[in-house]
Amino acid sequence: MKRTLSVPGIAYGGDYNPEQWPEEVWAEDMRLMREAGVNLVSVGIFSWALLEPSEGVYDFSRLDKILDLLHDNGIAADLATPTAAPPAWFFRAHPEALPADRDGRTLSYGSRQTFCPSSPAYRQAALRIAGALAGRYADHPAVRMWHVHNEYGCHNAACYCDTSAAAFRRWLRDRYGDDLAALNHAWGTAFWSQWYYDWEEVLPPRATGAVSNPTHQLDWRRFCSDELLSLYTAERDVLRAAAPTVPATTNFMVNFSFDALDYWRWAPELDLVSNDHYLRSTDPEPQIDIALSGDLTRSLAHGPWLLMEHSTGAVNWQPVNRAKSPGQLRRDALAHVARGADGIAYFQWRQSKAGAEQWHSAMVPHAGTDSRIWQDVVRLGADLKALAEVRGSTGTAEVAIVWEWDARWALELPSQPSGELRYLDLVRAWYEPLWRSGVAVDFVRPDADLTGYRLVLAPNLYLVDEAGAANLTSYAAGGGTLAVGFHSGAVDENCHARLAGYPGAFREVLGVRSDEPFPLLPGEPVALSGAVPDGATGSLWSERLRLAGAEAVASYADGPLAGVPAVTRLAHGTGSAWYLATLPDPVTLAALLDRVREEAGVAPVRTAPPGVEVARRRGPEADYLFVIDHTGQGAEVPVAEGSFELLTGKETSGTVTVAPGDVAVVREPRGQ
Ligand code: GLA
Repeated sequence: MKRTLSVPGIAYGGDYNPEQWPEEVWAEDMRLMREAGVNLVSVGIFSWALLEPSEGVYDFSRLDKILDLLHDNGIAADLATPTAAPPAWFFRAHPEALPADRDGRTLSYGSRQTFCPSSPAYRQAALRIAGALAGRYADHPAVRMWHVHNEYGCHNAACYCDTSAAAFRRWLRDRYGDDLAALNHAWGTAFWSQWYYDWEEVLPPRATGAVSNPTHQLDWRRFCSDELLSLYTAERDVLRAAAPTVPATTNFMVNFSFDALDYWRWAPELDLVSNDHYLRSTDPEPQIDIALSGDLTRSLAHGPWLLMEHSTGAVNWQPVNRAKSPGQLRRDALAHVARGADGIAYFQWRQSKAGAEQWHSAMVPHAGTDSRIWQDVVRLGADLKALAEVRGSTGTAEVAIVWEWDARWALELPSQPSGELRYLDLVRAWYEPLWRSGVAVDFVRPDADLTGYRLVLAPNLYLVDEAGAANLTSYAAGGGTLAVGFHSGAVDENCHARLAGYPGAFREVLGVRSDEPFPLLPGEPVALSGAVPDGATGSLWSERLRLAGAEAVASYADGPLAGVPAVTRLAHGTGSAWYLATLPDPVTLAALLDRVREEAGVAPVRTAPPGVEVARRRGPEADYLFVIDHTGQGAEVPVAEGSFELLTGKETSGTVTVAPGDVAVVREPRGQ
C-alpha cells in the first residue's frame, strides 16, 4: 500500500518541543506558526521521560493538548516515537541495556541515544511506548505521519557489549548458513591464527593490540546497520498495525561524516524518505554538499523526499559554529527543494533556554521575532507556499554516480595502501565539476538498472561484488560510457583481493592492468602530461599501469612512474570506458569529466554563469528550473518562452533575472 503525507503543497515546519515551555507559550507558538505558514511539525521526539514517568504508566495529558492545539490551528503532526532517549528509570531497572564502547567501557545515561541496540529490554520498552502512542493517537486527525525514533545510529551505531556479541553471532550464523568454515573462509582467518572453532569464540571487533581482521570489521558494520534497521521495522510495524494508512519515516543523515547505516537497505522500508542536513562551518562551498546529499536522498527515495532537519543559522556541535549569511537560509532551503525535497523542516521550532542544544539556532530564536532569522523564516513560508505545484515532481538525470556503503566502509578500513583515501571526498571531487556545470546527477547501486543513463561514474568502488562488476561491465560493453576511479574493483564482497592485477574486477572492461600501486604522500602531487590542461597534476594515488587495449589520455610526467599511463580510455562501440588512476587536480578533473560527458552526449540542465546553481524538477505538465545565485552578483539565465517565475508570480519569457544572492523557480512549459 502506498502511504502518502496528507499535507497540502510543500510541507514546512520543524521539530516542535513544547514540553520545554510553559503552556502560555504554546498559544504564541500557534500564532507564529500560522504567521510563518508552518503546516507540519514533528512532535514528541525526545518526550519519553515525560510520557512514561515509570514503567507502563503513561501521562498523555500534555501530548493530548498539543495535538488538539495543532489540529485546531490547521497544523499537521509528524508524531514521533520517543525511543531515541530512554528515561533514567529505564536504565536503573535495566543497567544491562547501557552500551559498551570498543574499549569495553560501559557508557552512562544522562544524554540521549545511549542504549544497546541489541538489548531485549530496550526493544521491549521501545515497542511498548510505540504501541501506547499508536493506540492512543492512530485516529487523531492531526497525526499525518509517524517519525520513528530519531537519526538511528547517530550516537550509538555500535555497541560492543556481550548482548551485542550474541546478536552479532546470530546475524553471522544467518549470513554464513550456520557454517563456521564459511565464516573462516570469508574472513580469511588462516591469517594471524584467527581461526574459529566455536561460534562462541566470535566477538565484536573490540579493541585489540594490532589491527583486527578487515572482513570481521566489515561484517560488523553490516550487522550494526541491520540491527538498528530491525528496531526501525519493529516500531514501524507496531504503528502500522494501529494506523494502516499513516506513512512512517525516520530521519536519515546521508551526508557529512555519518556513515553507519546502509541506507540502500533502509530506504525501501520507509513510506517516505526523510533526511537531515547540516552545513560544516569549514566547508567553503556548503551549497555543493546540499546538492550532493539532496541528489543522494532523492535517489534513495526514487522520487521526492522530505528535509526533516536543517538549521536556520548556526549549529552548536562544531568547534566554531558559523551563522548563515544574508539570504542563505532561503538559498539553502530552496536548494533542497531543487534536489527533490517536498518538505522543509528545521531543528527546531523554538530555540531552547536550557539543555545541551541551547546555543543551536531555531525558527524562533532566543531574540524572538525581532530578528533576521524570524523574518527569513516567515519569508520562506511564503516562498514554499508559492511552490506548491512543484510537489511530486522528480529529477531528470542522465548521469549516475555509483554509491555503495559497503564500498565506503571497506575503503576506510585500516591498513590500506593509503590511509588518505576518504570515500566521500572522492565522490565529492567528482561531483563538484558536474555541479558547477549544472549537470543533473542520480546516485545508484552498482547493480542498479542503468538503462536510463548515458554516463555512469564510479569515483571509487574499492569493493564490488560479482553482480555489481558484471552490471557495470555490461553497461560499458553495451555502448554506455563508464568512468572508474583508482583503487576500484580491488576486492570482492568479503574484502578478498582480486588476483592477477588491478583494478581487479574492471581490468577487462577498462583495458588496463597494473601490477603495483604507488600511493602519493600528502602534498606531493605528480605532474601529468597528455590531453590535460597545462600544469595538470595528480594526487593521492598513482599505479604502475599498462595498457591492455585502452589508449593513454594522460601519463605521469614525473615521479617514480614517469611515462606510465594515468588516465585511459577504451572505446566500446558507441560508448567508452575511462580509468582515472590518480586524483587529478580540480581543473584537470573538470576538463576530463567535461570530455567524458560530452562524448556521452550529456548536456547541463541549463548553461549558467559560474557559481550560479541550476537544477531541474520534472512534473507531469511542466519542468521547474531552479536558479540559485551563490555569487552575490546576480545572474541572467535563459529560460523557455512562455515561462513563469513562481516566487515572484511573474511571467518570464526567454530569460530569467536573479537578483544577487537570490533564487528563481521557473515553470517552463513542456517540450522546450
Ligand atoms: C540532529 C538531531 C537533532 C539535533 C540536531 C542539532 O540532527 O536529530 O535532535 O540534535 O542534530 O543539529
